[in-house]
Amino acid sequence: MSTPIPQPPGVPLLGNIFDVNPNNTWWSLKTLAEKYGEIFQINALGHRIVFIASAALAGEICDEKRFRKYVGGPIEEIRYAVHDSLFTAYHHEESWGVAHRIIAPQLSPEAVANHFDEFLQCTDELISKWHGLGPDARIRPLDQLNRLNLEVTTLTFFGKKLNCLDGPEHSMIRAMEDSTSEAIKRPTRPKLLNWLVHGGKFKRATKTMRSFAAELVKERQQNPSDRRDLLWTLLNAKDPETGKGLTEAQVIDEIVTMPIGSSTAPCAIAAGILFLLQNPDAVVKARDEIDAVVGDGPFRQDHVSQLPYVAGLVRETLRLSCAAPGFNIEPIPKPGDESPVLLAGGKYQIPHNQAMIIVLAGVNRDPAVFEDPLAFRPERMMGDRFEQLPAAVKKWFGNGKRECIGKHWAWEFLVVVMAKLIREVDFEAVDPKYKLKQDGWFNIRPIDFFVKVKPRAR
Ligand code: HEM
Repeated sequence: MSTPIPQPPGVPLLGNIFDVNPNNTWWSLKTLAEKYGEIFQINALGHRIVFIASAALAGEICDEKRFRKYVGGPIEEIRYAVHDSLFTAYHHEESWGVAHRIIAPQLSPEAVANHFDEFLQCTDELISKWHGLGPDARIRPLDQLNRLNLEVTTLTFFGKKLNCLDGPEHSMIRAMEDSTSEAIKRPTRPKLLNWLVHGGKFKRATKTMRSFAAELVKERQQNPSDRRDLLWTLLNAKDPETGKGLTEAQVIDEIVTMPIGSSTAPCAIAAGILFLLQNPDAVVKARDEIDAVVGDGPFRQDHVSQLPYVAGLVRETLRLSCAAPGFNIEPIPKPGDESPVLLAGGKYQIPHNQAMIIVLAGVNRDPAVFEDPLAFRPERMMGDRFEQLPAAVKKWFGNGKRECIGKHWAWEFLVVVMAKLIREVDFEAVDPKYKLKQDGWFNIRPIDFFVKVKPRAR
């Protein structure tokens, strides 16, 4: 006999729609995970979704022999903007393999390292902007880091300096927010309402993002250069397996996908700044390490791999921020076999085609794995201690074949920006009692978190 999967009571006909706040889905799921534990389910407008919130069960459903990414719900909705791009392609679409094989070499650790000077240049610009603000200026780290991320993404991938650290917010940032929020909310609304009331916003955001991408392509075509970056690759490279290249529409799809993926990194760093404020001893340790390795000279690419404490601090930030809050999984279909799928050796049973969502807020803070799971302890993310952790609690970049293709780029961005901020900036909390509360869509970020920034006192 299997154990029934816990479910909040809900209401007749509408099911659990009041258990999940459509304006802050991931916070609701975190709250449900805290209440129900390793597994729970909800019923929304007749659709059942199962949520996995323990390391053991997440480890089980990350087994690619039995399970795979589920391309449905919000991921299917954002196809309106990016079609069969890397992030959104169905398993049967050939385009995924073609694009993956073309793009992956441009995102390898070696390729990313070649852009180190650009990472540094943009980060230096942000820090000098902050240093010019005066001691009483309040900043919202997330806004500032979103700008930095778009600046670095556009420069490293597409060779264009946007200069968007200052001035009005770049239209791409709003468009990414509007399109991803729509993609999350659409599956929870009746289709007619989506079409009549909310369609315009989705359409406008998509147009802004695709025009941004088309402009980058046009500029490169009109100003050919010998820069061999991601944009060059998208426009010219051929898949080594099929010999196929990308059509111009597919190039636009992938260009739009990249800043959306990348926008998770600033969410992590914004939360990281809060963790540093709450843990001044971690700042002291990180500064000691950075000062010993980098000294008074410039920060260099070879320093990135020589900062084990900063690396632990970044991993602990990824664990506790859950900046990418989860990902979707389904059983691999077995033609002709509709028998239920067993989890935890038969303790739970789910239908053969059941969509599941891994809730990292549960998995990453599983007390079966972490002592004092809410504490910020970079040491547990270093060396052997990190290696010995179960793979399921290190899934901040997703899983297997559909794992984040930008993970090396993201790592470089996170380490360079965090190390530079720790080395050169003193942060002060505007509200010392502030407690982390997050919201978001494809990624989650601190709400109403403000700080003051000053040059580091030496
Ligand atoms: C801290 C930073 C980042 C985190 C935590 C993160 C997390 C993730 C996760 C969890 C997935 C899997 C999604 C799924 O299973 O549906 C994913 C996929 C993806 N990410 Fe990232 N990401 C980050 C940065 C980036 C960057 C910088 C890029 C840009 C190159 C990027 C581009 C993508 C793409 C294109 C996919 C889809 C891959 C595929 O299905 O083949 N991400 N990311």
